[in-house]
Amino acid sequence: MERTLVLVKPDGVQRGLVGEVICRLERRGLRLVAAKFLQVTQEIAETHYAIHKGKPFYSGLIDYITSAPVMAMVWEGPNAVAAVRQTMGATRPTEAAPGSLRHDFGLEIGRNLTHASDTVENSEKEVSLWFKPTEIVEWKRDTDRWIFEKS
Ligand code: RTP
Ligand code: MG
Repeated sequence: MERTLVLVKPDGVQRGLVGEVICRLERRGLRLVAAKFLQVTQEIAETHYAIHKGKPFYSGLIDYITSAPVMAMVWEGPNAVAAVRQTMGATRPTEAAPGSLRHDFGLEIGRNLTHASDTVENSEKEVSLWFKPTEIVEWKRDTDRWIFEKS
């Protein structure tokens, strides 16, 4: 079963969209296994976005993610990485599919509401950056067998 890191970024929190993001991931059938609300430190921001260091948008990106609290979560399910990226939509909201979060609530790439891990390898690194192993709750839902073919 894959896991993926989801952040509701500062704009999503400020706009009261934490519940909307959770609602969409829950109704998709994904299982929440960890969550915390926090002010992102410079250190976490720089580690999380290390891959973008040196790009023209990097300093704006660090300022954006550290500008106000975020909601960090881990969601689990079959193909969770791809499923969550699809629910979020393309990075640039004007290219995001209708019905995706970034399409429905966003206009600009620098205010695109959410983060979701882009590969299984990165999801493992990101989950361990944002959460201690003890903060991840292993559990089964009574509905799992009606959502996951192999639960
Ligand atoms: P994320 O990591 O936040 O889930 O977004 P992503 O994979 O769809 O996009 P990525 O390429 O990883 O970029 C990370 C975040 O940087 C901002 N960005 N701004 N101004 C620009 O050209 C630009 N490009 C990227 C976005 O906030 C993007 O989500
Ligand atoms: Mg990314």
